[in-house]
Amino acid sequence: MASITFSQVTKRFPGADRPAVDTVSFTVPADEICMLLGTSGSGKTTLLRMVNRLGDPTSGQVLIDGVPTTEQDPIHLRRGIGYVIQQVGLFPHLTVEDNVRLVPSITGEPAAKSRPRVEALLRLVGLPPAEYRRRYPSQLSGGQAQRVGLARALAADPAILLMDEPFGSLDAITRGRMQQELLRMQQELHKTILFVTHDVDEALTLGDRIAVLAEGRLVQVGTPVELLATPANAFVRRLMGADSIVRQFEYLPVTLALDAAGVRPHAAESITADTTLLEALLRLIQSEQPALVVEEAGRPIGHVTLGSISRSVRRHRSGVQA
Ligand SMILES: Nc1ncnc2c1ncn2[C@@H]1O[C@H](COP(=O)(O)OP(=O)(O)O)[C@@H](O)[C@H]1O
Ligand SMILES: [Mg+2]
Repeated sequence: MASITFSQVTKRFPGADRPAVDTVSFTVPADEICMLLGTSGSGKTTLLRMVNRLGDPTSGQVLIDGVPTTEQDPIHLRRGIGYVIQQVGLFPHLTVEDNVRLVPSITGEPAAKSRPRVEALLRLVGLPPAEYRRRYPSQLSGGQAQRVGLARALAADPAILLMDEPFGSLDAITRGRMQQELLRMQQELHKTILFVTHDVDEALTLGDRIAVLAEGRLVQVGTPVELLATPANAFVRRLMGADSIVRQFEYLPVTLALDAAGVRPHAAESITADTTLLEALLRLIQSEQPALVVEEAGRPIGHVTLGSISRSVRRHRSGVQA
C-alpha cells in the first residue's frame, strides 16, 4: 500500500524557457492505476522520474504515503518502486531467469532461495518458466521481453510501479494483450501504478484515473468517465475524443442513458450497471425491447431503450459543446 502525492511540483531544466513540469498537484490513491496522458513533451516522463528520484523537483514535493521522497535515500527508495520503460534494457548475456533475479541478487539473496519466486513471477507475467527461464533476450519477441521487464520490476515486490510507455513499441494486437494482462495482474497485486502514455485508448482502458498534462501543467485529473463526460476544457475534449460517438459507446456506462420514465420491472432482459453503452446497444438491437439495468447486488435502478441511449448521447453532445 502506498499513495503518491504531487504537491506544487515544478521542474525547470537549465536554459529552458518554460518549466518541463509546472506546479503540478494531485494524489494517486494506493492500489490505483493512474495514467499520465499528454502529447510528446508535455512533461510526463519528467514527472514520473521525480517519484523515484531520477530527478528532483526544482520546487514542490513528491510524497509517498505522506513522506517527502527527498527525505529518503534514493537507493532505498528505488527498491520499493518498480520501473518499466519502453526500452526494456535486459542484459543480453544473462538468461531470462537471471535477468529477473537481478534485483534479489543485488540485495543479497542466494539463487536457490530466489528460484521459486522468479518462477512465480514468470508465471504471473504469462511466461511458463520451463519454456522461458533459460532463454536469452535475443530469443524473445518484443512482447515477451516486455513481460520479462515487468517480472524484473516486480521482483522486489514493490508497492509502486512506474511504467513509461512500456507497450509503446509493440504492435497493436500484442499491446492490447499486454494491457489485459496488466489488468488481470493488478487484480492480484494491488500495486499503485503510475503509467505514462500518449495513447487515449490505452489511458481509457487501463486507468482508474487519468491525469492530463499539457506543457507541463495538469489540465484535469479524473476517472475515464469523468474525462469523457465532463472534459474540463476544449483541449481535453479534443484529446479524449469526447465528441466521438464511438468512444462514448465504448467506454461510458449504460447508467448514463437510463430512461426518464424510471424502473419498468417487467423488462425481459436485465443488464448490469457497469455494462458499456456499446454492449447495451447491441443487446437492445438483438432483443428489440427495453432492458432492466440492475446494480451488482441485483437491485433494479432503471431501464434503457434504444431511444434513451440515443437521447443521452444527443444531450451529452450538446452539453459538452455549450
Ligand atoms: N534532461 C533534460 N534536460 C533538458 N530538458 C529536458 C530534459 N528532459 C526533458 N526535458 C524537456 O522537458 C520537457 C518535457 O519532457 P518529457 O518529460 O520527456 O515529456 P514527455 O514524456 O511528456 O514526452 C521537454 O520540453 C523536454 O525537452
Ligand atoms: Mg516521455
